[in-house]
Amino acid sequence: MSTRPTVRLAAALLSLAVLGACRNGPDVLKPGPKQIAQHGFAGVGMETNYDPDDIAKTAAYNQAPKPLPPAPPGPPGQYKNVQVLTDISAAEFGRTMTAMSAWVAGNAGNCAYCHNTANFAADSAKGQPIYTKLVARMMLRMTRRVNSDYTNHVGGTGVTCYTCHRGQPLPKGLWFYTTENQILRHYLDRDDVRVQTHTVEPNNGNRTAIRQTYNTYALMVTQSNALGVNCTYCHNSRAWTSWEQSTPKRVVALYGSTMLRDVNMNYLNPLQPVYPRSRLGEHGDAPKAQCITCHNGVYKPLYGAKMVKDYPALWGAPGWDAISGPLDAAGKPMYDGTPLTQPVMTPSGAKLGSVASTMAMPSMGDTLGAAMPAAPSVPARQMP
Ligand code: HEC
Ligand code: HEC
Ligand code: HEC
Ligand code: HEC
Repeated sequence: MSTRPTVRLAAALLSLAVLGACRNGPDVLKPGPKQIAQHGFAGVGMETNYDPDDIAKTAAYNQAPKPLPPAPPGPPGQYKNVQVLTDISAAEFGRTMTAMSAWVAGNAGNCAYCHNTANFAADSAKGQPIYTKLVARMMLRMTRRVNSDYTNHVGGTGVTCYTCHRGQPLPKGLWFYTTENQILRHYLDRDDVRVQTHTVEPNNGNRTAIRQTYNTYALMVTQSNALGVNCTYCHNSRAWTSWEQSTPKRVVALYGSTMLRDVNMNYLNPLQPVYPRSRLGEHGDAPKAQCITCHNGVYKPLYGAKMVKDYPALWGAPGWDAISGPLDAAGKPMYDGTPLTQPVMTPSGAKLGSVASTMAMPSMGDTLGAAMPAAPSVPARQMP
């Protein structure tokens, strides 16, 4: 037993000496002292090297803002056009609006980012739909869905708008369709990870191509970067495939992929007809999220600060809002996930030229918001 710490210390000193020798190289090669965190059995190298200087840089960005003073309990407010936040008190409603303004639109007084301030109930201004409000309504549904139905990933930490937005309208890691080989489609509608071969030579039972292997590794690099960790945070690198030898974090990561698919497929991608052209990708699709959108470079977003417990409007209850995006007049989802072949239009209905698309265009304006079924009122979930 006593040899292990000695060996580890010697190894640490050796690596410091080696790293120290790089000190005269370019800036990226100038590491500060290292700290090592172990994730698996001793001696198998399942550890992450941290540079405290790098951590100090990311720490400031990953501090949760102070919660607003709590709102007193009271009956739900009387509103004209509220479809999601039907189950919170009037005071909590106002408090949530204030927080949303700061989290997404930069400051607590910026109601005009989402509202026609002459009529807060309207989903349009001067005859044009206010896309930010329509998007924000879907974001509320999405945030509740994540916090209530994906506790296997977000635990008691949960997410608020701030987890992704950080005071900005556009979060990190937005992605769109490309004509290239696109690994991030794994978080939408494609599946080609788990490609490690189990046989020595290619055969009919093993049709895995080098391309898929490349995809897997590329995807894994994006996951590691998103969390600011090494591969060994989740895997034992002697057996990438083996779940038995992986750390429990790998299972959490797998749930994360499932959650992201739901988020992209049912909440973000279906917002395509709502956004102005300038927010869409070159193939006319809506912006989508990936791991870094929430994680922002750290293993738990905001280092695990439980911001959401202070914002009951964002919890919802399990299963309360499992609809797949906006519905059409017949009550079917407007977007079924098939690739796009129809003209892409602006929210005002103006054509912007043809793009590959098969998506049915919903009618625009206030009807889009109205087409989403109202949220049932449900008892709030007790946050741990
Ligand atoms: C990020 C977008 C966003 C910002 C910023 C925002 N709101 Fe809202 N607001 C919404 C959405 C979305 C709804 C509808 C919620 C729903 O359907 O559950 C709403 C609804 C409302 C309503 C209900 C109106 C009715 O009768 O239907 C009021 C009042 C309101 N907001 C006030 C405010 C105030 C005051 C501010 C600024 C402190 C603000 N909002 C900032 C998105 C926003
Ligand atoms: C999982 C990450 C995530 C969470 C949580 C989240 N958003 Fe978003 N949000 C996005 C992404 C991705 C976009 C697309 C960015 C764009 O518009 O190009 C977006 C866009 C928006 C926009 C449109 C911005 C613009 O100008 O185009 C608004 C408004 C918005 N979100 C409000 C909210 C509100 C309010 C909440 C909390 C109830 C919230 N979001 C929670 C990821 C998130
Ligand atoms: C945050 C946790 C996490 C990190 C970090 C991570 N992985 Fe993974 N890895 C997973 C999960 C989860 C899967 C299974 C994905 C699936 O099946 O959808 C996986 C699958 C794999 C596979 C496919 C195994 C098979 O069965 O074919 C390989 C290879 C792999 N990872 C290599 C790596 C490498 C190399 C790194 C570092 C660059 C890395 N991983 C970092 C979680 C992680
Ligand atoms: C909607 C926001 C969101 C997205 C998207 C997201 N995560 Fe997370 N993730 C969280 C939150 C919040 C936690 C903290 C959970 C907790 O405290 O138990 C977390 C925790 C984790 C953990 C456990 C960390 C630890 O040390 O316990 C891993 C691993 C992880 N995420 C991997 C991923 C991967 C990989 C992806 C992309 C496939 C991803 N996450 C996407 C919000 C997100």
